Amino acid sequence: MRKIAFVNEKGGTGKTTLVVNVGSYLALKKKKQVLLIDLDPQGQVGKSLGINVREQPVTILELMTKPDLPLKEAILPTKIENLKIIAANKNLADFFITAATLPDRNLLLRNRLKELRGFDYVIIDSPPSMGLFTLNALVACDEVIVPVALTYLSLDGCAEIVETVDLVRSRLSPLTDNLQISMFVATFWRNTLLAEAIHGKLKEHFKERVAKTVIGYSVKIDEAQSHGQTIWEFDPASKGALMIGSLAEEIYRKK
Ligand SMILES: Nc1ncnc2c1ncn2[C@@H]1O[C@H](COP(=O)(O)OP(=O)(O)OP(=O)(O)O)[C@@H](O)[C@H]1O
Ligand SMILES: [Mg+2]
Repeated sequence: MRKIAFVNEKGGTGKTTLVVNVGSYLALKKKKQVLLIDLDPQGQVGKSLGINVREQPVTILELMTKPDLPLKEAILPTKIENLKIIAANKNLADFFITAATLPDRNLLLRNRLKELRGFDYVIIDSPPSMGLFTLNALVACDEVIVPVALTYLSLDGCAEIVETVDLVRSRLSPLTDNLQISMFVATFWRNTLLAEAIHGKLKEHFKERVAKTVIGYSVKIDEAQSHGQTIWEFDPASKGALMIGSLAEEIYRKK
C-alpha cells in the first residue's frame, strides 16, 4: 500500500486538485483501490467529488479523536468505482482543542491507518499550513509530493518543506525512516520567462525528483470542481485531463 501526502504550506498550489484527480485516475484507469483522506477543514476533497461534507456525521475529526470508533465507519463511498474518501469539514478546526491534551497527537492518523486493509493507494490532502494536520499527514505517509506553483516565492517554500520533512524524519525515527519527498510538481505553468526560470531552478535543485509533467492552467479543471466532478467525468479529452493523466502515470510508475 502506497501512502502519499500532497503537501505545501503555501496556499493554492494545486494540492487538492491533484489529490482528487490523480486519485480518481488511479481508481478509474488503473483499477486500483484508492482511499483519499482530507486533512483540511476546507473539506474540498469531498466537495470536489460532489459530496456534502457538512452533513457527514463521521469525518477525519472523529476518526482521529475517538480511538474506539471503527475505521470503516469513516470511509465513505464516492460515485467513482474503487475510490473511497475519509472526508473533512469545518468541524476539523475543533481538533486543536480536542487534541491539545492528547499524547502522541502527531501520530493520531498514523495509528488509525494501521488498521487499514485492502487499499493500493492512500492519498492525503493537507491544508496550507505546517501545523498539526500536516504533521499528521507527514507521519502517516511514506511519500510526499509537493505541488509548486511557478511563482517567484515558491522556491523559498520548497526549501522550508525539505527542512520540515528532514526534521520530522530525524525527530520521529525510526517510525519515519521511509519518509521522503518523492516528487516536486510544477503547477500553474505559464509560457513566461519567469515561470521557465523558476522551473529551471527547481530542476537544478531537485533534479530527477521534479516531475517531467508540468501542470499548466486549464479552465476545465476549475469548471469540473464547480460541478463536483473529476476531470475524467467532466471533460476527459481536455488539456487539463491530458496533463493530470500524464502526471498520474508518472506517480503510478514511481514504484
Ligand atoms: N491546472 C489548473 N488549471 C486551472 N485551475 C486550477 C488548476 N489547478 C488548480 N486550479 C484551481 O486553483 C485553485 C487552487 O487549487 P487547489 O484548491 O487545488 O489548491 P490547494 O493547494 O489545494 O489550495 P489550499 O492551499 O487552499 O488547500 C482552485 O480553485 C482550483 O480549481
Ligand atoms: Mg487544498
